Amino acid sequence: MFKLLKYADKYKFYAFLCPVLMIGEVVFELLIPQVMANIVETIRLTDTADAAVQSAAVNDIFLYGGKMLILALCSLFCGSLAARIGSIAGMGFGASLRLGLMEKIQTFSFSNIDRFSTASLITRMTTDVNTVQNTFLMLVRGFFRAPIMLITALVICIRKSPDIAKVFAVALPIIILFLAIFAPIAIKRFRAMLKKFDGFNASIQENFTNIRVVKAFVRTDYEKEKFKKSNDALTAAAIHAEKIMVLGEPALILLMYFTITAIVIIATKSIAEQTLDVGEFTAIFTYAFQILTSFLFTIMILVQVFMAEASAKRIGEVLYETPDIKDPENPEETVSDGSIEFKNVSFSYGKGSDVIKNVSFKINSGEMVGIMGATGSSKSSLVQLIPRLYDATSGEVLVGGKNVKDYSVYGLREAVSMVLQKNVLFSGTIADNLRWGDKNATDEELKNACEIADALSFVESFPDGFNTDLGQGGVNVSGGQKQRLCIARAILKKPKILILDDSTSAVDTATDARIRASLRRLAPNTTKIIIAQRISSVSDCDKIIILDGGSISDIGTHEELLSRSEIYRDIYEAQQKGCDDFDSVGGAS
Ligand SMILES: Nc1ncnc2c1ncn2[C@@H]1O[C@H](COP(=O)(O)OP(=O)(O)OP(=O)(O)O)[C@@H](O)[C@H]1O
Ligand SMILES: [Mg+2]
Repeated sequence: MFKLLKYADKYKFYAFLCPVLMIGEVVFELLIPQVMANIVETIRLTDTADAAVQSAAVNDIFLYGGKMLILALCSLFCGSLAARIGSIAGMGFGASLRLGLMEKIQTFSFSNIDRFSTASLITRMTTDVNTVQNTFLMLVRGFFRAPIMLITALVICIRKSPDIAKVFAVALPIIILFLAIFAPIAIKRFRAMLKKFDGFNASIQENFTNIRVVKAFVRTDYEKEKFKKSNDALTAAAIHAEKIMVLGEPALILLMYFTITAIVIIATKSIAEQTLDVGEFTAIFTYAFQILTSFLFTIMILVQVFMAEASAKRIGEVLYETPDIKDPENPEETVSDGSIEFKNVSFSYGKGSDVIKNVSFKINSGEMVGIMGATGSSKSSLVQLIPRLYDATSGEVLVGGKNVKDYSVYGLREAVSMVLQKNVLFSGTIADNLRWGDKNATDEELKNACEIADALSFVESFPDGFNTDLGQGGVNVSGGQKQRLCIARAILKKPKILILDDSTSAVDTATDARIRASLRRLAPNTTKIIIAQRISSVSDCDKIIILDGGSISDIGTHEELLSRSEIYRDIYEAQQKGCDDFDSVGGAS
């Protein structure tokens, strides 16, 4: 938790000023009971027969009353200013923690992201940051106030009446013992509740992001049931945690009243024996309350800190995660050409077994290369190593003749444009989305890119053309249209290497062929890698790589592979028999 405090650096001034003002509040508050004692004493003088003494006493009472009012106002002023300043510090701390998390997550590589689930990252950024922020606020506001109040009130009380102070010597250890038993149980239960929160968030996040699939598969009832389960689990965990509080609070209050009763008994005896006067007793009584409340408050802060520790740990895990992919010391910024070479490359996700096994091949700059293989044969995994979305576990991946690890990540990814298999568009207009590829692209360049990706005709058919709003996640366009916009966006980067991972799966064969012809004609120097399921998508490539279970089964042209690759021939024959029938006549675009 304390490691996170560096995120409060900007609010240091507020974080220090707040306790100072709080101390001011405490001092004024502690003076009030003393003035009250004076008033009580003076009231007794109004009973005397002497008129002069009587009127002097009345005057004094007004004077003390005024003094008390000023002290109360000063205390109020310090207290409310401290609360305001504390809020600035607390909320500011939360904001910079969230910003820190956001910046950190942006540096994560794909494998870093694989380690945390999206839902868990969201919980950490919201619920966990809130818990830590509130604890920090509590600390800033109360950490000095409560102990100072406790110690000062205790010292005054001991000086005024050592007999009464003895009560605390018994009561405070009992309260500590009580809390030592209850607090660990409460903390454990609250931590369990936080875990359930993770599961709950994961469940709603998955449902909301995939609501269309849920509806398409008529899984609403199943999802409702799933939600009910995680919601019930969260509720049960919350009730379990609250139960201990419900039990703890009255017990503590009971302990407090026992203490007060003991004080009253001792005080009554002292007053009867005339070792304590009534005025002093009222002061001691108020101090006793202050001692007990500030003592409980101090303990509550400590319990809260322990509870926030769980959240702080979860935030720290993200903040101190080392990004797997970083720039080298003196990075190369520019990629000279689009040549690619894999030298004995193997790769595994995390601790799993190798999904790419000792792969070697070479692609010349400007070539168009197809990659084929059954699903799960590691086509996507292979190409993700080129822009360093993941790093090879062993072997070397070279781009433009140099190891990909020698380039700056920015420089490399500017040169390698990849249309991911699971691609998305963002809310905003078509033009906004396309300019992700090049934020300074002119309207003419947007049109050219769309022309190559065979997207221009449908974009221009929309009433608002390039200014058509796509809605969240690009919901306003068809699957095939979306794929073509993603290709156009990648082309706008004017990359040296363009990778299309199953990016034309939703477009008909004729459109697919037109896109490839335009790419060949209009981007002759760009190396083009096309992953496809259809033979027709790769048959005209300069060479085709056949993957089988993470290894290269063969590399060659369409004709070469037809004559010697069994896998290729099997796919070809299966697709010739009719799987491609609809595509070959061309569907709607
Ligand atoms: N993020 C990931 N974490 C762990 N394993 C993964 C991950 N992504 C893929 N895999 C595993 O790696 C293997 C290869 O997957 P990959 O996505 O590269 O196949 P593919 O050839 O692209 O398949 P498809 O044709 O279905 O797209 C599979 O066994 C898959 O389970
Ligand atoms: Mg794939």
